[in-house]
Amino acid sequence: MAKRYAVILAAGKGTRMKSKLYKVLHPVMDRPMVQHVIDQVKTVQLDELVTIVGFGAEKVEEHIGNESKFVIQEEQLGTGHAVMQAGELLKDKEGTTIVVCGDTPLITGETYQKLFEHHEKTNAKATVLTASAPDPAGYGRIIRNKDNEVERIVEHKDANEEERSIDEINTGTYCFDNRALFQALQHVSNDNAQGEYYLPDIIGIMRRQGEKASAFLTDDFNETIGINDRAALAEATQILKRRINEQHMRNGVSIIDPENTYIHPDVKIEPDAVIHPGTIIKGESFIEADAEIGPHSEITNCHIGEETIIRQSVAADSKIGKRVNIGPYAHIRPESIISNEAKVGNFVEVKKTKLGEGSKVSHLSYMGDADVGSNVNIGCGTITVNYDGTKKHLTTIEDDAFIGCNSNLIAPVTVGQGSYVAAGSTITKDVPGDALAVARARQSNKEGYAARLKNRQKS
Ligand code: UD1
Ligand code: CA
Repeated sequence: MAKRYAVILAAGKGTRMKSKLYKVLHPVMDRPMVQHVIDQVKTVQLDELVTIVGFGAEKVEEHIGNESKFVIQEEQLGTGHAVMQAGELLKDKEGTTIVVCGDTPLITGETYQKLFEHHEKTNAKATVLTASAPDPAGYGRIIRNKDNEVERIVEHKDANEEERSIDEINTGTYCFDNRALFQALQHVSNDNAQGEYYLPDIIGIMRRQGEKASAFLTDDFNETIGINDRAALAEATQILKRRINEQHMRNGVSIIDPENTYIHPDVKIEPDAVIHPGTIIKGESFIEADAEIGPHSEITNCHIGEETIIRQSVAADSKIGKRVNIGPYAHIRPESIISNEAKVGNFVEVKKTKLGEGSKVSHLSYMGDADVGSNVNIGCGTITVNYDGTKKHLTTIEDDAFIGCNSNLIAPVTVGQGSYVAAGSTITKDVPGDALAVARARQSNKEGYAARLKNRQKS
């Protein structure tokens, strides 16, 4: 097979974003847009990937790391000028080069593959990926001749009225015969409305040289949206959200309100799980069958077991077992393990804590740095006092223990198996197994005292 190369254009400043963040690093569902592009382009077998970076280059390199070679475009003189910068690495090589803009994050690997196939089949020197846009304003327009062949591309700013009425747009994605590309680039000028070296001009240049150029019209404009400003950024999130949600629903996941449910690209969900409105599931989360998440929950990098219910809660970087009940209004912080059939109830915060099977923290508690056994009952308002101002310490609560309401467990401390802690205790010493620990002031009743006080106040 002929060699395949990719050039990703990511050097533009992105002025229209009005942001201190480099444009292609703006995230769509938590992933920089250029990362989406690279992920999808990479699904096509490539021999070499070159990313053109400019202003803020270090930050882009930091994100993409060793996935790509980098070439700096010192001055942003246009997309044609940007591709020229890859010349030192590519210009003499034989093969096909795909050029993709770093700001079109929704184009799928499948579409790139189809573009390659079309390009190779038609034997063209250049093939541009086009789409039919409901509102083509801002995009380059595809000018075809009477035989319906692509003649050239005209930028919106350079287009006349008639050209602007064309709805077939340049998606900014092209396949080129690599050598022909770098030869034609030498003929691109900057004599246009923006004073830039336009890459799309290559199509017209090749046609004038009698070469074959072709256009491949994809049927889904939504995929090809170019992100130049915040409005388009928001639109891209909506499009990606719908695409992902539809996929999950086809796989058997119930999503009650898909418009208000955000499931990020790497999340896996098994059939018969139910996702309620206002829920965001992020990172590498895995939701097992029959789990119910939401309404209004945010789950990040969590594994959630079968039939577990999580309502109005936040959970991150934790493993939650099967038939667990969480919320409403619980906060599961990183490195927690909530075992099967456990319960974390309203207004409970859990951090770096293992909660054993069937254990319950039902109301208004803080469990931080705790190792809790199975069938433990943690009473309302219990606090593990894990921090002494310098270090964090572990609280161990063994199986079948019962912690009375409003207790402070001052770590490091162990409450032994099957023992009781009386309500209102502040535990500073280990409690042996099967013991009762009472650590509170003894109650004394002063008979008749209140009545006497009232009488004195009257007189
Ligand atoms: C470009 C196309 C337009 C197409 C649209 C699709 C040109 C001249 N126009 O317009 O026909 O319809 O994309 O979304 O190509 N970049 C560089 N260096 C530069 C300039 C840009 O690396 O000197 C990069 C940008 O980071 C961006 C991409 O190239 O990722 C496209 O640049 P942008 O300015 O967004 O082009 P558009 O005006 O959207
Ligand atoms: Ca753009």
